[in-house]
Amino acid sequence: MEFKKPRGTTDWYGSNLNKLNEIKLKLQNLAINFGFQEIVTPTFENLNLFKKSIGEVTDIAQKELYIFQDKKERWMALRPEGTSSVVRAYVEEKLFANKNNASKFFYILNLFRYERPQNGRLREFHQFGVEYLNVTNHLYDIECILLGNKIIEFFGLQKNVQLKINYLGNFVQRQEWMNKLKNYFDQYKDQLSDDSKNRLSTNPLRILDDKIDSKKDFVINAPKLNKFLNENDKKIFEDILNGLSTNNINYVIDHNLVRGLDYYTGIVFEFVYINSNSKIESTIIGGGRYSDLIKQTGGPNEIGLGFAMGLERLLIALEDINYNFQTNKTPEIVIGASSYESSLAALHYMNILRDNNIFVVMDFGNYKKDKNVKYAIKNKANYFIFIEDKDICNPKLNVENMINHNKELLTIDELLTRINK
Ligand code: HAM
Repeated sequence: MEFKKPRGTTDWYGSNLNKLNEIKLKLQNLAINFGFQEIVTPTFENLNLFKKSIGEVTDIAQKELYIFQDKKERWMALRPEGTSSVVRAYVEEKLFANKNNASKFFYILNLFRYERPQNGRLREFHQFGVEYLNVTNHLYDIECILLGNKIIEFFGLQKNVQLKINYLGNFVQRQEWMNKLKNYFDQYKDQLSDDSKNRLSTNPLRILDDKIDSKKDFVINAPKLNKFLNENDKKIFEDILNGLSTNNINYVIDHNLVRGLDYYTGIVFEFVYINSNSKIESTIIGGGRYSDLIKQTGGPNEIGLGFAMGLERLLIALEDINYNFQTNKTPEIVIGASSYESSLAALHYMNILRDNNIFVVMDFGNYKKDKNVKYAIKNKANYFIFIEDKDICNPKLNVENMINHNKELLTIDELLTRINK
């Protein structure tokens, strides 16, 4: 019987895995320097957590959740995103910082969405994300977007990235806007997809980010939310934009940017990568403010804010700009031996070298010297040692420097001193 991995999933190994690990490490360091602490939540949670927080009438909740019943017939779902789980953990574990400070968490998680797989759209993928919980003023919004921008610059992607930004206001303003949108889209009902027709009565806002309908002129020209914002909200939006300009961050305001999740209120943003050849756009980072999610999850009346970045999409963008990934680590030493007995002596030396943190490998069962030399060259080792039967009891090792091909007889201590220099 032949088994294949499920569609839209990836086997990670070799240089791709090295690249993934490299970006994870770099992002981890960046987040720590911005004062975030790492958090890891369970791979699956109660289904209702996601349905309630993401919104029942979103593509993620309606079509993309991996759902199962456990043996006690409780409905569970594989996590499709990190925010709902981090907020749940914040409330459940009471991870509250002091009154005036936000608790700041970052995460690197694998997530699951039943989407139609294509380049940069997978069924199991990874996100790096940050969440600020108990946000007290709009400096946090500015800092959060600055971190997104810092990541883009850190990886050298800024030339191909555009920051899109919008302000969604509160749920009351949103409701007024949705009523207006419903009346407006009613006129174009016959031009809407079946999915969008259903959304007309439940959540017309989702028509704005429908993958197909969002490209249609009447959707692009639909009524905008900013007409429903009050003076205070307009001022907050302006303050955030000014904060970005003061920090030399370029942005475009996109009034139709609503994001695919229902919990957002206030600022929303996306960093969009534009492929240098195909010019195809792909959102690498998406985020915004959520005012009701913490309370709705059973916690205090506090505001949250954050973003997440797709790591597979980041890797695609990095390939596009020919990012200089660290090359694979190569062994310091290759040891060869002429027989089974001399291989045992070699194992003894390998143990000592490894105790001293030295990367050393051996091609077991290969007893030919020339073949062992080839193995050392292939592995790009700096030193090559060959042990013959007559040398088993000799405390001096035959060491060849593979860069200048100098040959020396060295004790293990002399070799260690040489390498550590
Ligand atoms: P999101 O826009 O659904 O937001 O996802 C964020 C990023 O994850 C996307 O911009 C994209 O790079 C990546 N992504 C999403 N779906 C896929 C997929 N199927 N395959 C590959 N990559 C994907 C959220 O998840 C929010 N929780 C972000 C957030 C955090 N908002 C506030 N805090």
